[in-house]
Amino acid sequence: MTKLAVLVSGRGSNLQAIIDSIENGYLKAEISVVISDIAGAYALERAKKHGLNAVHIDSKRFETKESYEEEVLGVLRNNKVELVLLAGYMKIIGKTLLSSYKNRILNIHPALLPAFPGLHAQQQAFEYGVKVAGCTVHFVDEELDGGAIILQKCVEVKECDTAETLAGRILEQEHKIYPEAVKLFVENKLHLEGRKVIIG
Ligand code: GAR
Repeated sequence: MTKLAVLVSGRGSNLQAIIDSIENGYLKAEISVVISDIAGAYALERAKKHGLNAVHIDSKRFETKESYEEEVLGVLRNNKVELVLLAGYMKIIGKTLLSSYKNRILNIHPALLPAFPGLHAQQQAFEYGVKVAGCTVHFVDEELDGGAIILQKCVEVKECDTAETLAGRILEQEHKIYPEAVKLFVENKLHLEGRKVIIG
């Protein structure tokens, strides 16, 4: 079974979706460790409730991004992690992690990339006035929210939407496509050709 790490910073609903997919047998993988850079992240509580190894690594304890990521890398290696999932992890991944886990880090982003990278993507899309929003699962590379796209799902913007209601419907789709993308990865069905991901 593929050993996963889930990196989180906040409420952890995408972590929960991955946990649920494993527990209901949809996803044949195991979560070896959940790592949060934020001490009080609710995601850590969720992990503990399911008996998972949950670790807080305070980036402020480290002088450089490299030394922080070396610490994270040590935890990943100790837990024999094969695939890293970013799930609401709000730090930019640096060279240390990227080079050790090349094409083995995935991220979920609440917009149809390459539109609206960065923070508050749902609000950016809403304020821009798009008629179709959505979410993306992609490989992580050195460009912010710029790696090869694995899956995307559209969400129509309604006249009555606020940024919050739209974000809520996007989140429902995130919870579907993230486990789906991870399943494709662990079943060896993702093939990178340049920046295209061929599925099958
Ligand atoms: C999710 O909407 C996720 O797509 C987003 O943060 C939220 C985390 O929620 N990630 C990003 O914006 C990354 N650029 P969660 O903690 O409940 O999974």
